[in-house]
Amino acid sequence: MTDEPDVELEARLEEQDSFEPPEEFVEQANVTDPGIYEEFEENWPDAWEQAADLLDWDDEWDEVLVEEDAPFYEWFVGGELNAAYNCVDRHVENGRKNQAAIRWEGELGETRTYTYQDLYREVNEFAAALRDLGVEEDDVVTLYMPMIPELPIAMLACARIGAPHSVVFAGFSADALATRMNSADSEYLVTCDGYYRRGDALNHKEKADEGLRGVEHEVEDIVVVDRLGDKLTHFLGANYHDYDELVDDHDGERVEPVSRDAEDMLFLMYTSGTTGQPKGVKHTTGGYLSYAAWTSHAVLDIEPEDTYWCSADIGWITGHSYIVYGPLALGTTTMMYEGTPDYPEKDRLWEIVEKNAVDIFYTAPTAIRSFMKWGKEHLEGRDLSSLRLLGTVGEPINPRAWKWYYKHVGDESCPVVDTWWQTETGGMMVTTLPGVNEMKPGSAGPGLPGVDAKVIHPDKEEVEPGQAGHLTVQKPWPGMLRTLYQNDERFVQEYWEEYSDPDSDEWIYFPEDGAKVDEDDYITVLGRVDDVLNVSGHRLGTMEIESAIVGVPGVAEAAVVGGDHEVKGEAVYVYAITEEGTDGDEDLRERVVDNVEDAIGPIARPEEIVFTPELPKTRSGKIMRRLLEDIANGDELGNTSTLRNPDIVDDIQQRVSDD
Ligand code: WT7
Repeated sequence: MTDEPDVELEARLEEQDSFEPPEEFVEQANVTDPGIYEEFEENWPDAWEQAADLLDWDDEWDEVLVEEDAPFYEWFVGGELNAAYNCVDRHVENGRKNQAAIRWEGELGETRTYTYQDLYREVNEFAAALRDLGVEEDDVVTLYMPMIPELPIAMLACARIGAPHSVVFAGFSADALATRMNSADSEYLVTCDGYYRRGDALNHKEKADEGLRGVEHEVEDIVVVDRLGDKLTHFLGANYHDYDELVDDHDGERVEPVSRDAEDMLFLMYTSGTTGQPKGVKHTTGGYLSYAAWTSHAVLDIEPEDTYWCSADIGWITGHSYIVYGPLALGTTTMMYEGTPDYPEKDRLWEIVEKNAVDIFYTAPTAIRSFMKWGKEHLEGRDLSSLRLLGTVGEPINPRAWKWYYKHVGDESCPVVDTWWQTETGGMMVTTLPGVNEMKPGSAGPGLPGVDAKVIHPDKEEVEPGQAGHLTVQKPWPGMLRTLYQNDERFVQEYWEEYSDPDSDEWIYFPEDGAKVDEDDYITVLGRVDDVLNVSGHRLGTMEIESAIVGVPGVAEAAVVGGDHEVKGEAVYVYAITEEGTDGDEDLRERVVDNVEDAIGPIARPEEIVFTPELPKTRSGKIMRRLLEDIANGDELGNTSTLRNPDIVDDIQQRVSDD
């Protein structure tokens, strides 16, 4: 290829602000009828049965939706099913036992393939082992594991016996593990000895043990997967078990999948909010699984014969819904990669796409911005022609990154779906349907069929096209969280109080995102409007970080804000007041960083720490975060006249530029 057409192409792409779905894609797409929006509207909520119909039920539901206790909605009420049966057994029974279910790539280059038959065997054996340990239906099992196949196997084993899992992201700290186990009263832990990052073996077991010391109740059993091959060095006591030995002891055993009520909890997933305490989001068996399967079918266009790859970590909701439950419910081949995208080289992901002939690829804008930074030469030697659809999730994607993805990864022949959703929504909510809608870079798209997404003013009126407001969802949907674990009150407070009117039984879900909308009802999500940061697509509560910082001796007060970051989207900026007699020196800086990493994990590592004698406060004593954000971004400062201590602003700016 000569340079010239490329330049022309770039210029054309730069100008273009909407893209038709490629014809070749539409011809084969799962959903192509634009009438689907109307169908859902006219036949709501019954149209949602088409989601539930993607699954096999032990007992059909009596009612699609029960709204009596809104906002505690119930879906597919009276129905019974088992999630593991739906993700594994039925594909074995339907003649696809030899098809690959999971293809795993270790960071060092090892690979493992599990056919549906293999997965069936593994899930059954581990389910038998869990049961033998004493895990009963409704016991919460914590899974603190990295991207190894034993993680989805353990999730499905839990689902098989009706024990909800609570997966804790492996990159989270020991403290974070303890907090989550305490909150869920979880008495069982499955973890591993370690895993690889950039070629180094990380000791995970040590972190797990430290976390266990922070658990306030008795922990019955701890199962340790031997990922690094250092067997037996990692046992601490009688309630520790080696995963392989347990499974060997249950060789060939079968466990009847437990029929779960549609509304029974499938799993808990903790996520950050505005307070220091993470929220335990509760997802159910019927509604969640239907929704994960339906969106995987309609948006990701997954077919059983595909090789599908979502590069997220299973420790986040994206991995739950779109590495494990959605794809496996549809009986496809789902990929898992243990490592980092630039190890050993910056073409690692494309090597995996090429080698496995990946059809569908789903990743985050932060990853795409890294690819852009590394340069397109890392893709050029790789055959990516197997790709049919591309997706992004986790944060707003800027049009430049969208177009780069579309052109350099998708070769202008794959639709790109920009999917807005949250841990709480269970699955995608706002996105184009790739076989139906045109795409507009930078704008996620309309609400999915049946999803009543509206951008509104504080007075609840819809905004005019182009105006910013709050994103809301004004009808329930099957994948929605049902409550915050053991905290119904906080559930109502966090998501419903802002816009609902209980007296007239009007319930409006508020996800705490700002957004705007255009004349075609395409929604552009602008980001969080609460004190939650989005760092590389990971949600971090500023309060959680602040409380870790004020725990450092020598720090009196701290404010954390998000500053713009080229690759991460947002980065953690810390402004801290030192105690009388303490120097804001390198040593203190290090201790702040260490404490944040210990309390949360490396993902929350501060980008910048500024020590200051005061923080800008309003007369009522509230920290002016906006102002601190402006300082972090080098933006022009907003009004400072309402400050109690306006002089401090210049002082802080001076300290920032001195750094
Ligand atoms: C927050 C949810 C959904 C799985 C990953 C994150 C932001 C998510 C988009 C998108 C703009 C997005 C929102 C949301 N977000 N997807 N396509 N465009 N923003 O899940 O940790 O629960 O975070 O991520 O701010 O509220 P999460």
